[in-house]
Amino acid sequence: MAIESSCDETACAVLENGRALLGSTVASQMDIHARYGGVFPEVASRQHVLSIMPVIEDTLAKSHLTLSDIDALAVTRGPGLAGSLVVGVNAAKGLALGTGLPLIGVNHLEGHLYSAWVYNAGQTPPPEPEFPLMVLLVSGGHTELDLMTGHLEYKRLGSTLDDAAGEAFDKIGRVLGLSYPGGPAIQKASEEGDPHRFELPRAWLEDTWNFSFSGLKTAVLREVKSFHAQGRTLPAADMAASFQEAVVDVLFIKTMDAAREFQVKEILVAGGVSANHALRERFLHQREFPVHIPALSLCTDNAAMVAAAGYRRLALGQPSAMDMDVLPTWPLA
Ligand code: KG4
Ligand code: ZN
Repeated sequence: MAIESSCDETACAVLENGRALLGSTVASQMDIHARYGGVFPEVASRQHVLSIMPVIEDTLAKSHLTLSDIDALAVTRGPGLAGSLVVGVNAAKGLALGTGLPLIGVNHLEGHLYSAWVYNAGQTPPPEPEFPLMVLLVSGGHTELDLMTGHLEYKRLGSTLDDAAGEAFDKIGRVLGLSYPGGPAIQKASEEGDPHRFELPRAWLEDTWNFSFSGLKTAVLREVKSFHAQGRTLPAADMAASFQEAVVDVLFIKTMDAAREFQVKEILVAGGVSANHALRERFLHQREFPVHIPALSLCTDNAAMVAAAGYRRLALGQPSAMDMDVLPTWPLA
Protein backbone atom coordinates (compact mmCIF):
# COMPACT_ATOMS: atom_id res chain seq x y z
CA MET A 1 0.00 0.00 0.00
CA ALA A 2 1.32 3.43 -0.86
CA ILE A 3 0.59 7.03 0.10
CA GLU A 4 1.24 10.06 -2.10
CA SER A 5 0.91 13.68 -0.96
CA SER A 6 3.71 15.56 -2.72
CA CYS A 7 1.63 18.35 -4.26
CA ASP A 8 -2.13 18.94 -4.32
CA GLU A 9 -3.41 15.36 -4.55
CA THR A 10 -3.91 13.16 -1.48
CA ALA A 11 -3.71 9.59 -2.73
CA CYS A 12 -3.53 6.00 -1.55
CA ALA A 13 -3.44 2.73 -3.50
CA VAL A 14 -2.93 -1.00 -3.03
CA LEU A 15 -1.10 -3.15 -5.56
CA GLU A 16 -0.70 -6.89 -5.68
CA ASN A 17 2.66 -8.29 -6.82
CA GLY A 18 3.87 -4.79 -7.64
CA ARG A 19 1.69 -4.38 -10.73
CA ALA A 20 -1.98 -5.34 -10.31
CA LEU A 21 -4.04 -2.44 -8.96
CA LEU A 22 -6.59 -3.53 -6.36
CA GLY A 23 -7.81 -0.10 -5.29
CA SER A 24 -6.83 3.54 -5.68
CA THR A 25 -8.16 6.84 -4.36
CA VAL A 26 -7.06 10.31 -5.43
CA ALA A 27 -8.55 13.24 -3.52
CA SER A 28 -7.84 16.23 -5.71
CA GLN A 29 -7.62 19.74 -4.30
CA MET A 30 -7.80 21.24 -7.79
CA ASP A 31 -11.00 23.18 -7.20
CA ILE A 32 -9.58 24.73 -4.04
CA HIS A 33 -6.37 25.90 -5.74
CA ALA A 34 -8.13 27.00 -8.94
CA ARG A 35 -9.15 30.26 -7.29
CA TYR A 36 -5.45 31.09 -6.70
CA GLY A 37 -4.49 30.10 -10.25
CA GLY A 38 -1.94 27.59 -8.90
CA VAL A 39 -1.11 25.45 -5.89
CA PHE A 40 -1.13 27.41 -2.61
CA PRO A 41 1.33 25.37 -0.47
CA GLU A 42 -0.05 26.16 3.00
CA VAL A 43 -3.60 25.41 1.89
CA ALA A 44 -2.38 22.17 0.28
CA SER A 45 -0.81 20.80 3.47
CA ARG A 46 -3.87 21.64 5.58
CA GLN A 47 -6.06 19.90 3.05
CA HIS A 48 -3.81 16.81 3.10
CA VAL A 49 -4.27 16.61 6.87
CA LEU A 50 -8.04 16.58 6.40
CA SER A 51 -8.03 14.05 3.56
CA ILE A 52 -5.33 11.54 4.44
CA MET A 53 -7.15 9.18 6.80
CA PRO A 54 -10.42 9.09 4.79
CA VAL A 55 -8.39 8.44 1.62
CA ILE A 56 -6.55 5.51 3.24
CA GLU A 57 -9.80 4.04 4.60
CA ASP A 58 -11.52 4.50 1.27
CA THR A 59 -8.70 2.71 -0.56
CA LEU A 60 -8.74 -0.29 1.79
CA ALA A 61 -12.53 -0.51 1.46
CA LYS A 62 -12.33 -0.38 -2.35
CA SER A 63 -9.67 -3.10 -2.30
CA HIS A 64 -11.79 -5.26 0.05
CA LEU A 65 -8.84 -5.43 2.42
CA THR A 66 -7.90 -4.42 5.93
CA LEU A 67 -4.51 -3.23 7.12
CA SER A 68 -3.72 -6.75 8.30
CA ASP A 69 -3.71 -7.91 4.64
CA ILE A 70 -0.99 -5.44 3.66
CA ASP A 71 2.62 -6.69 3.29
CA ALA A 72 4.54 -3.43 3.00
CA LEU A 73 4.10 0.34 2.93
CA ALA A 74 5.54 2.93 0.55
CA VAL A 75 5.32 6.70 0.66
CA THR A 76 6.48 9.58 -1.51
CA ARG A 77 9.45 11.17 0.19
CA GLY A 78 10.10 13.83 -2.46
CA PRO A 79 10.46 15.84 -4.58
CA GLY A 80 7.52 18.11 -3.82
CA LEU A 81 6.18 20.67 -1.37
CA ALA A 82 7.75 20.12 2.07
CA GLY A 83 4.56 20.77 4.01
CA SER A 84 2.59 18.40 1.78
CA LEU A 85 5.19 15.62 1.84
CA VAL A 86 5.37 15.71 5.65
CA VAL A 87 1.68 14.81 5.97
CA GLY A 88 2.01 11.66 3.85
CA VAL A 89 5.32 10.59 5.38
CA ASN A 90 4.03 11.02 8.93
CA ALA A 91 0.85 9.10 8.18
CA ALA A 92 2.92 6.29 6.65
CA LYS A 93 5.29 6.22 9.63
CA GLY A 94 2.30 6.00 11.97
CA LEU A 95 0.91 3.05 10.02
CA ALA A 96 4.31 1.34 9.92
CA LEU A 97 4.78 1.82 13.64
CA GLY A 98 1.33 0.50 14.44
CA THR A 99 1.52 -2.53 12.15
CA GLY A 100 5.23 -3.37 12.16
CA LEU A 101 5.24 -3.34 8.34
CA PRO A 102 8.35 -2.27 6.37
CA LEU A 103 8.25 1.33 5.09
CA ILE A 104 9.90 2.35 1.82
CA GLY A 105 10.50 6.00 0.83
CA VAL A 106 9.90 6.57 -2.87
CA ASN A 107 11.04 9.25 -5.29
CA HIS A 108 7.92 10.75 -6.91
CA LEU A 109 9.63 10.86 -10.32
CA GLU A 110 10.52 7.18 -10.08
CA GLY A 111 6.86 6.63 -9.23
CA HIS A 112 5.79 8.34 -12.47
CA LEU A 113 8.03 5.97 -14.46
CA TYR A 114 6.73 2.89 -12.68
CA SER A 115 3.13 3.87 -13.45
CA ALA A 116 3.86 2.19 -16.79
CA TRP A 117 4.05 -1.20 -15.02
CA VAL A 118 0.62 -0.88 -13.37
CA TYR A 119 -2.60 -2.45 -14.70
CA ASN A 120 -6.03 -3.05 -13.22
CA ALA A 121 -6.33 -6.33 -11.32
CA GLY A 122 -8.43 -8.78 -13.29
CA GLN A 123 -7.20 -7.55 -16.66
CA THR A 124 -4.53 -9.20 -18.78
CA PRO A 125 -1.17 -7.72 -17.79
CA PRO A 126 0.29 -5.58 -20.59
CA PRO A 127 3.90 -6.40 -21.57
CA GLU A 128 6.50 -4.95 -19.22
CA PRO A 129 8.73 -2.24 -20.66
CA GLU A 130 12.06 -3.66 -21.84
CA PHE A 131 15.47 -2.17 -21.15
CA PRO A 132 17.29 -0.18 -22.30
CA LEU A 133 14.44 2.31 -22.29
CA MET A 134 14.36 5.97 -23.32
CA VAL A 135 12.25 7.78 -20.74
CA LEU A 136 10.51 11.10 -21.33
CA LEU A 137 9.32 12.37 -17.97
CA VAL A 138 6.98 15.33 -18.37
CA SER A 139 5.13 16.68 -15.34
CA GLY A 140 4.20 19.96 -13.72
CA GLY A 141 7.55 20.20 -11.96
CA HIS A 142 9.94 18.23 -14.19
CA THR A 143 10.80 17.66 -17.83
CA GLU A 144 13.69 15.35 -18.55
CA LEU A 145 15.07 12.59 -20.75
CA ASP A 146 16.53 9.62 -18.91
CA LEU A 147 18.18 6.47 -20.17
CA MET A 148 16.87 3.59 -18.08
CA THR A 149 19.22 0.60 -18.32
CA GLY A 150 17.50 -1.66 -15.78
CA HIS A 151 15.16 -1.52 -12.82
CA LEU A 152 15.93 1.57 -10.71
CA GLU A 153 18.91 2.44 -12.95
CA TYR A 154 18.79 5.79 -14.68
CA LYS A 155 21.14 8.17 -16.39
CA ARG A 156 19.81 11.66 -16.83
CA LEU A 157 20.57 12.87 -20.36
CA GLY A 158 19.00 16.30 -20.16
CA SER A 159 16.29 18.36 -18.53
CA THR A 160 14.55 21.69 -18.85
CA LEU A 161 16.65 24.78 -18.44
CA ASP A 162 13.64 26.84 -17.34
CA ASP A 163 9.98 25.77 -17.10
CA ALA A 164 8.74 22.19 -16.97
CA ALA A 165 6.37 21.34 -19.84
CA GLY A 166 3.37 21.16 -17.50
CA GLU A 167 4.32 24.45 -15.93
CA ALA A 168 4.41 26.05 -19.39
CA PHE A 169 0.94 24.62 -20.12
CA ASP A 170 -0.33 26.03 -16.81
CA LYS A 171 1.18 29.50 -17.38
CA ILE A 172 -0.09 29.78 -20.96
CA GLY A 173 -3.50 28.55 -19.80
CA ARG A 174 -3.58 31.51 -17.44
CA VAL A 175 -2.47 33.93 -20.20
CA LEU A 176 -5.31 32.64 -22.41
CA GLY A 177 -7.84 33.02 -19.60
CA LEU A 178 -8.47 29.25 -19.35
CA SER A 179 -9.28 27.33 -16.18
CA TYR A 180 -6.63 25.79 -13.89
CA PRO A 181 -4.77 23.53 -14.50
CA GLY A 182 -3.81 24.79 -17.93
CA GLY A 183 -2.78 21.42 -19.43
CA PRO A 184 -6.21 19.82 -19.77
CA ALA A 185 -7.77 23.24 -20.54
CA ILE A 186 -5.34 23.89 -23.42
CA GLN A 187 -5.94 20.38 -24.75
CA LYS A 188 -9.70 21.04 -24.72
CA ALA A 189 -9.42 24.49 -26.32
CA SER A 190 -7.07 23.05 -28.99
CA GLU A 191 -9.79 20.73 -30.27
CA GLU A 192 -11.42 23.75 -31.89
CA GLY A 193 -8.19 25.42 -32.93
CA ASP A 194 -5.81 25.51 -35.88
CA PRO A 195 -2.32 24.37 -34.76
CA HIS A 196 -0.72 26.14 -37.72
CA ARG A 197 -2.37 29.54 -37.25
CA PHE A 198 0.57 30.94 -35.25
CA GLU A 199 4.21 30.27 -36.11
CA LEU A 200 5.70 29.75 -32.67
CA PRO A 201 9.37 29.05 -31.92
CA ARG A 202 10.73 25.62 -30.97
CA ALA A 203 13.90 25.52 -28.86
CA TRP A 204 15.84 22.53 -30.20
CA LEU A 205 18.99 23.15 -28.11
CA GLU A 206 20.87 20.96 -30.54
CA ASP A 207 23.76 18.79 -29.32
CA THR A 208 22.12 18.60 -25.90
CA TRP A 209 19.16 16.65 -24.56
CA ASN A 210 17.91 19.71 -22.67
CA PHE A 211 14.64 21.55 -23.14
CA SER A 212 13.57 25.18 -22.85
CA PHE A 213 10.07 26.62 -22.99
CA SER A 214 10.72 30.24 -22.01
CA GLY A 215 11.13 31.51 -25.60
CA LEU A 216 7.88 29.85 -26.62
CA LYS A 217 6.11 31.35 -23.60
CA THR A 218 7.42 34.83 -24.42
CA ALA A 219 6.35 34.48 -28.06
CA VAL A 220 2.78 33.58 -27.01
CA LEU A 221 2.69 36.47 -24.56
CA ARG A 222 3.90 38.90 -27.24
CA GLU A 223 1.18 37.78 -29.68
CA VAL A 224 -1.52 38.02 -27.02
CA LYS A 225 -0.41 41.54 -26.04
CA SER A 226 -0.33 42.66 -29.65
CA PHE A 227 -3.94 41.48 -30.17
CA HIS A 228 -5.01 43.35 -27.04
CA ALA A 229 -3.12 46.52 -28.03
CA GLN A 230 -4.91 46.56 -31.37
CA GLY A 231 -8.29 45.94 -29.72
CA ARG A 232 -8.70 42.66 -31.64
CA THR A 233 -10.12 39.47 -30.16
CA LEU A 234 -7.49 36.79 -29.72
CA PRO A 235 -8.34 33.50 -31.44
CA ALA A 236 -7.63 31.67 -28.18
CA ALA A 237 -8.34 28.18 -29.54
CA ASP A 238 -5.86 28.71 -32.40
CA MET A 239 -3.27 30.00 -29.96
CA ALA A 240 -3.83 27.05 -27.61
CA ALA A 241 -3.50 24.59 -30.51
CA SER A 242 -0.38 26.30 -31.89
CA PHE A 243 1.23 26.32 -28.45
CA GLN A 244 0.40 22.65 -27.82
CA GLU A 245 1.76 21.73 -31.24
CA ALA A 246 5.07 23.50 -30.52
CA VAL A 247 5.50 21.72 -27.16
CA VAL A 248 4.55 18.32 -28.57
CA ASP A 249 6.92 18.75 -31.55
CA VAL A 250 9.92 19.35 -29.33
CA LEU A 251 9.09 16.63 -26.79
CA PHE A 252 8.41 14.04 -29.48
CA ILE A 253 11.27 14.80 -31.86
CA LYS A 254 13.94 15.07 -29.14
CA THR A 255 12.79 11.82 -27.53
CA MET A 256 12.88 9.99 -30.86
CA ASP A 257 16.36 11.38 -31.61
CA ALA A 258 17.59 10.26 -28.19
CA ALA A 259 16.03 6.82 -28.63
CA ARG A 260 17.94 6.37 -31.91
CA GLU A 261 21.19 7.80 -30.57
CA PHE A 262 21.23 5.52 -27.51
CA GLN A 263 19.85 2.55 -29.46
CA VAL A 264 17.18 1.73 -26.91
CA LYS A 265 14.64 -1.04 -27.32
CA GLU A 266 11.59 0.94 -26.26
CA ILE A 267 10.28 4.33 -25.15
CA LEU A 268 8.43 5.21 -21.97
CA VAL A 269 6.50 8.48 -21.59
CA ALA A 270 5.22 9.40 -18.12
CA GLY A 271 4.14 12.29 -15.86
CA GLY A 272 1.07 14.53 -15.92
CA VAL A 273 1.70 15.88 -19.43
CA SER A 274 1.71 12.30 -20.80
CA ALA A 275 -2.08 12.56 -20.41
CA ASN A 276 -1.99 14.99 -23.33
CA HIS A 277 -3.90 13.57 -26.26
CA ALA A 278 -1.76 15.18 -28.97
CA LEU A 279 1.46 13.93 -27.34
CA ARG A 280 0.09 10.40 -26.92
CA GLU A 281 -1.13 10.32 -30.52
CA ARG A 282 2.24 11.41 -31.83
CA PHE A 283 4.07 8.62 -29.98
CA LEU A 284 1.46 5.97 -30.67
CA HIS A 285 1.46 6.73 -34.40
CA GLN A 286 5.14 6.08 -35.03
CA ARG A 287 6.30 2.55 -35.75
CA GLU A 288 10.00 2.80 -34.99
CA PHE A 289 9.89 1.99 -31.24
CA PRO A 290 7.34 0.26 -29.01
CA VAL A 291 6.01 2.94 -26.64
CA HIS A 292 4.65 2.62 -23.11
CA ILE A 293 2.37 5.39 -21.85
CA PRO A 294 0.42 4.85 -18.62
CA ALA A 295 -3.38 4.72 -18.64
CA LEU A 296 -4.85 8.23 -18.37
CA SER A 297 -5.81 7.86 -14.70
CA LEU A 298 -2.18 6.94 -13.87
CA CYS A 299 -0.52 9.85 -15.73
CA THR A 300 -1.29 12.54 -13.19
CA ASP A 301 -0.38 12.13 -9.53
CA ASN A 302 -1.62 8.95 -7.87
CA ALA A 303 -0.38 6.41 -5.33
CA ALA A 304 -0.46 3.28 -7.51
CA MET A 305 2.74 4.49 -9.17
CA VAL A 306 4.36 4.98 -5.75
CA ALA A 307 3.36 1.46 -4.73
CA ALA A 308 4.87 0.08 -7.96
CA ALA A 309 8.20 1.84 -7.39
CA GLY A 310 8.17 0.96 -3.67
CA TYR A 311 7.53 -2.70 -4.48
CA ARG A 312 10.53 -2.76 -6.81
CA ARG A 313 12.77 -1.09 -4.21
CA LEU A 314 11.68 -3.52 -1.52
CA ALA A 315 12.16 -6.48 -3.87
CA LEU A 316 15.68 -5.31 -4.68
CA GLY A 317 16.58 -5.14 -1.01
CA GLN A 318 16.05 -1.54 0.08
CA PRO A 319 15.70 -1.63 3.88
CA SER A 320 12.74 -0.18 5.76
CA ALA A 321 13.38 3.40 6.93
CA MET A 322 11.33 4.61 9.84
CA ASP A 323 13.65 7.57 10.37
CA MET A 324 13.28 9.04 6.87
CA ASP A 325 12.93 12.76 6.35
CA VAL A 326 11.15 14.39 3.43
CA LEU A 327 13.33 15.46 0.48
CA PRO A 328 11.59 18.43 -1.26
CA THR A 329 14.41 18.53 -3.85
CA TRP A 330 15.47 15.05 -4.96
CA PRO A 331 16.63 14.37 -8.53
CA LEU A 332 15.89 10.97 -10.06
CA ALA A 333 19.46 10.59 -11.29
O1 KG4 B 1 2.52 14.66 -12.72
P1 KG4 B 1 1.58 15.71 -12.32
O2 KG4 B 1 0.18 15.33 -11.94
O3 KG4 B 1 2.16 16.53 -11.12
C1 KG4 B 1 3.53 16.77 -10.99
O4 KG4 B 1 4.25 15.87 -10.52
O5 KG4 B 1 3.92 17.88 -11.39
O6 KG4 B 1 1.54 16.76 -13.51
C2 KG4 B 1 0.71 17.87 -13.48
C3 KG4 B 1 0.92 18.65 -14.74
C4 KG4 B 1 0.22 20.00 -14.75
O7 KG4 B 1 1.13 20.99 -15.14
C5 KG4 B 1 -0.90 19.81 -15.76
O8 KG4 B 1 -1.25 20.99 -16.45
C6 KG4 B 1 -0.28 18.80 -16.71
O9 KG4 B 1 0.42 17.91 -15.87
N1 KG4 B 1 -1.30 18.07 -17.46
C7 KG4 B 1 -1.45 18.16 -18.80
C8 KG4 B 1 -2.58 17.38 -19.14
N2 KG4 B 1 -3.08 16.82 -17.99
C9 KG4 B 1 -2.27 17.25 -16.97
N3 KG4 B 1 -0.74 18.84 -19.72
C10 KG4 B 1 -1.13 18.75 -20.99
N4 KG4 B 1 -2.21 18.04 -21.40
C11 KG4 B 1 -2.97 17.34 -20.51
N5 KG4 B 1 -4.03 16.64 -20.92
ZN1 ZN C 1 3.71 14.10 -10.39
